[in-house]
Amino acid sequence: MTNIAITGATGLVGRHLIFEIIQQNLHQLENIRLFILGRNNEKHSLEQRFTDIIASEGFSYWNLDPTEYDKIFCFLENQVKYIHTHLEAHIPIVDPSELAQIKETPIDYFFHLAALPDLRNTPATEQRVMQANFLGTKRLLELLAKCQIKEFDYIGTAFVCGKTSGKILPTYLNPTQDFNNPYEKSKLLAELAVKEFSQKHNIRCRYFRPGIVCGRLLHKPLGHAHKFDVFYEIFAFLYMEKLRILKSTDRFFETPVNLNLRLVFDPESSANIVPVDYLVKVLYQVCVQNPPDDHFHLVHEKNTNFQVFLDATLEVMNISGVQQVHEIPKDVSPIERLYHSRVGAIFNPYLNSKPKIFDTSNLQIVLQKGNLKCPPLSAENIKILMRYATQKKFGMDTHKILRRVKK
Ligand SMILES: NC(=O)c1ccc[n+]([C@@H]2O[C@H](COP(=O)([O-])OP(=O)(O)OC[C@H]3O[C@@H](n4cnc5c(N)ncnc54)[C@H](OP(=O)(O)O)[C@@H]3O)[C@@H](O)[C@H]2O)c1
Repeated sequence: MTNIAITGATGLVGRHLIFEIIQQNLHQLENIRLFILGRNNEKHSLEQRFTDIIASEGFSYWNLDPTEYDKIFCFLENQVKYIHTHLEAHIPIVDPSELAQIKETPIDYFFHLAALPDLRNTPATEQRVMQANFLGTKRLLELLAKCQIKEFDYIGTAFVCGKTSGKILPTYLNPTQDFNNPYEKSKLLAELAVKEFSQKHNIRCRYFRPGIVCGRLLHKPLGHAHKFDVFYEIFAFLYMEKLRILKSTDRFFETPVNLNLRLVFDPESSANIVPVDYLVKVLYQVCVQNPPDDHFHLVHEKNTNFQVFLDATLEVMNISGVQQVHEIPKDVSPIERLYHSRVGAIFNPYLNSKPKIFDTSNLQIVLQKGNLKCPPLSAENIKILMRYATQKKFGMDTHKILRRVKK
């Protein structure tokens, strides 16, 4: 029996990691036991949430023959255990019987993905990300020190390098550098806490650092993601502004709109954007192939130039009049003011810094053995990602937006 525990299973990366684990073990699911460490939301229990995720997204990932559906239902019923876990709470797992399950079971792989990916630079956000990402991880580790963890797999971020640019090694860690926001710092502190835990308790820990995660580019539906945050927010702004002008979602793609908007970015600026399905395959392969290293970047092999990304997106959205400038203009229009205060304030530091080149040399053998090739972020694939996000309205309540516009 392989026992796998995972926090953040309801998130974008976490759910896809589970889809991949199931896909790779379809012929022997009875030998996998999965502990989902998560929480109920306002409407649904943790169990209901997870079952809904499997139903709405898992089956499309596996593309199974209906005769194989029973394997999944049987797995969900018998092999999945739910452990209510709150990172902000003083004790992350309060239910004594759930805690006992975790304590009594030797866990082969404990994946810790739960975190608050909020990039805002405000004192309130700082307080929240430090609580969830850093202190939450610390509290979880204190609890796990009393358990039987064979391997702890921590999902950090490639952006623990903060404002550092150029070539970045997967082991690079500099707590005294400048950060773009408290989120980056909280993830660095969490990684240091994992290091301390590993040394103190002699537990094998691996550190995975993803780039910016986008939707699927290997498994259908291509472009799929259930949420559109982080870098998607830049393009969600463009979507929303076009909607304000159209005053309707009808014929969104067919109707051209000029936004007259100047965005501040360095024409050379590039970002590392990695499709979620490729990312989880690399993560899974590292765990099963077990290479000697402990630190890995989970990134695209090639950065994407922001102008290229923007051009492809504007074409999909049928928007013109968006221009690159070097600094915030003195005569900003109301829409530009809104962009710079809401979106630019978060992303301008990233869009105006020298590129970060995340080193993946220690992954090359794993990629080769696993026959893994990262799908290119070509203009065509960018359009697939952004068409999907636009069709899903970037997860926004457009009725609410349109009601406000029409007032
Ligand atoms: N997305 C990116 O671009 C990106 C880039 C680099 C690194 N990463 C890292 O990759 C990991 C996964 O990211 P993601 O994009 O998949 O995140 P996500 O979609 O926002 O999901 C976050 C997960 O963490 C859980 N969580 C958050 N706060 C919690 C708390 N206080 N207690 C318990 N659970 C909590 C959420 O549970 P609920 O569903 O209940 O809220 C959810 O399952 C994170 O560690 C993130 O820092 C992400």
